[in-house]
Amino acid sequence: MVQRIRKAVFPVGGLGTRFLPATKAMPKEMLPVVDKPLIQYAVEEALAAGIEQIIFVTGRGKSSIEDHFDFSYELQDTLLKRGKLDALTVATEMVNRSGSVAYVRQQEPAGLGHAVWSARHLVGDEPFAILLADDLVMSKQPCIGQLVDVYNETGGNALAVMDVPREHTERYGVLDVGADDGRLAEVKGLVEKPAPSVAPSTLSVIGRYVLLPEVFDILASQEKGAGGEIQLTDAMARMVGSAPFHGLRFEGTRFDCGDKIGFLEATLAHALTRDDLGGDVQALIDGYASLSARRQAG
Ligand code: G1P
Repeated sequence: MVQRIRKAVFPVGGLGTRFLPATKAMPKEMLPVVDKPLIQYAVEEALAAGIEQIIFVTGRGKSSIEDHFDFSYELQDTLLKRGKLDALTVATEMVNRSGSVAYVRQQEPAGLGHAVWSARHLVGDEPFAILLADDLVMSKQPCIGQLVDVYNETGGNALAVMDVPREHTERYGVLDVGADDGRLAEVKGLVEKPAPSVAPSTLSVIGRYVLLPEVFDILASQEKGAGGEIQLTDAMARMVGSAPFHGLRFEGTRFDCGDKIGFLEATLAHALTRDDLGGDVQALIDGYASLSARRQAG
């Protein structure tokens, strides 16, 4: 019997330089897709997959994330007095049971591996999930839940992966693939951000992981990798062979919200699925499409 996945780590210490000036005084994880911050989508995904304990690895300037997952008495009082009960529900439903959310600070931006390592005492000696809020996944079953299922099936480590155009391998951790049944690909090796010419495949890691706690022992050596940072990918690569290790071609659509076009696409895709907005947003898109068709014709 495998140990149950109860804890999820959310590295939220990054600087968000690609979204300046919006992220100068506000965490990038608080950027809203339609009307909900990126980090809330990720936390809801984890809770929907049965995760019970949320661990944020934060940094300076990230306190609004803590406030977001807490009660706001002035706001609640005002909404209650005005009879805005629907808004009151929206403002309070993401508040988790006291003690189920923990925060630890990553004092220096030394890389994703360093961020995950900073959560070692809170995770302890059990397998755990990692979610990167920049990667927003729209799917029927929560993406991290799909990975938990793989872990329950195979044990060991499991990563969500997708095929990317070869010219994009420099943006991702990339798999060296062993046995592959089209859904699960055995991980034989991993390389962080390889040049297209040397990438072992085009099967790339997106920000969803289920890992064994042994990763902390490897991260403890604090070895620097690509970009001079302590890379999670390098630590994972060193776990290959010691336990089952799979990449799952997950069901769903992933939006790279660390990128402006990806973020805009996520916003449109989510708005289009909303009962209260979908029709109006579709009409907007149609309007812009016919405007650009007229411009091209004229
Ligand atoms: C990180 C990881 C990379 C992974 C990517 C997914 O990179 O280091 O292996 O493929 O997330 O989004 P980053 O996007 O932080 O540069």
